[in-house]
Amino acid sequence: MHQVDCPPVKAKRTILVTGAAGFIGSNFVRLLLRQDHDLKLVAFDKLTYAGNMANLSDLLSDERLVFVKGDICDAATVESTMREHGVSEVVNFAAESHVDRSILGSGPFVQTNVVGTQVLLDVSRSLGVSKFLQVSTDEVYGTLPEDKPEVKFTEETPLAPNSPYSASKAAADCLVRSYFHTFGMPVLTTRCSNNYGPYQFPEKLIPLFVTNLIEGKQVPLYGDGLNVRDWLYVEDHCEAIWTVLNKGKFGEVYNIGGNNELNNRTITEVILREMGASWEKSVKFVKDRPGHDRRYAIDASKIKNELGWEPRFRFDSAIVQTINWYRSNEQWWRDIKSGEYLKYYQMQYAQR
Ligand code: NAD
Ligand code: DAU
Repeated sequence: MHQVDCPPVKAKRTILVTGAAGFIGSNFVRLLLRQDHDLKLVAFDKLTYAGNMANLSDLLSDERLVFVKGDICDAATVESTMREHGVSEVVNFAAESHVDRSILGSGPFVQTNVVGTQVLLDVSRSLGVSKFLQVSTDEVYGTLPEDKPEVKFTEETPLAPNSPYSASKAAADCLVRSYFHTFGMPVLTTRCSNNYGPYQFPEKLIPLFVTNLIEGKQVPLYGDGLNVRDWLYVEDHCEAIWTVLNKGKFGEVYNIGGNNELNNRTITEVILREMGASWEKSVKFVKDRPGHDRRYAIDASKIKNELGWEPRFRFDSAIVQTINWYRSNEQWWRDIKSGEYLKYYQMQYAQR
């Protein structure tokens, strides 16, 4: 009998993107759909105060994308979603992400960032996913000295988190690591520095300052304004995550950074200049954040040398592009800066 050789059927990748209605998750979904990959994306989000369907609404007509409202702490919903859509890979962006809110109350941080990650790991393991990528942060390493610019966070830097937010992210990283060593799960971890770009919730430094200035309000600079962050455009972060998901070695951690250290005064000056506002009228120094990490800086040589990723966007043009996005999308942030947000703003800044 004549035998016909059939080419093997290549299973389509189906990726569960948790926290997909937030800042970085929605930019990740947007990037993958734009790059025209042959895959299905299941955007999974609890829609907390930070989750916003407006971040995804223009993408939902794309048949490669489905949205499911759900909590990563709810094992039954996570499992039924993954079974129903045949999820083969997980990228976990879902988190409580704002340091200042973790100082007001750490409960939701431990719940989502630690318990939620454990639930996702367990369900993913029981369903035998082929990859699990944990989106973590450089804040798990703690803080760096200002007077030693040559010292940066490497993947070998010991974990030393200083805020309830970073402590909860570090705990999640430890769980992810343990599922590799104990169960041989195919896990990957990325640790990125500060992101900026479109769709960032206006509680974080850059969108808060830009939108306050458009509203004619002052911008609250913590302490002496000399804390340093390593700023990276969000699309670069998303491309780095995609690179690690495709080329990373299981069980490894990859640092992601922009090699772009700036202190908060400098960021503020850039924003003021671009928006035609004056320092004297617009800047208000306020009481410092408790436990405020002084400096973050990423050594991203591992991801560059082993996986070939490097940032593509330059800060001086990407920051202008970002400011212009908030200028052209006033409705997006004005809808957020009302109701609950105003109560938060009052609590965070009124007594400072
Ligand atoms: P974000 O706060 O904008 O978005 C978080 C999203 O997670 C929201 O859509 C929210 O609704 C969702 N979410 C929260 N709890 C959930 C739960 N229990 N179940 C399902 N969904 C839930 O945060 P972001 O800035 O986009 O950060 C995304 C991830 O990247 C986080 O894990 C954060 O730690 C990490 N990270 C952020 C930065 C940064 O500069 N923003 C840098 C490095 C790493
Ligand atoms: O480094 C990665 C981390 O970056 C992420 O893991 C976090 O999710 C993300 O929120 C961000 O944390 P930061 O605390 O660095 O970001 P934030 O925008 O809150 O603050 C940036 C700097 O600006 C920090 O030094 C505090 C300062 N700041 C912030 C706010 C909101 C001010 O001076 N005034 C402000 O009103």
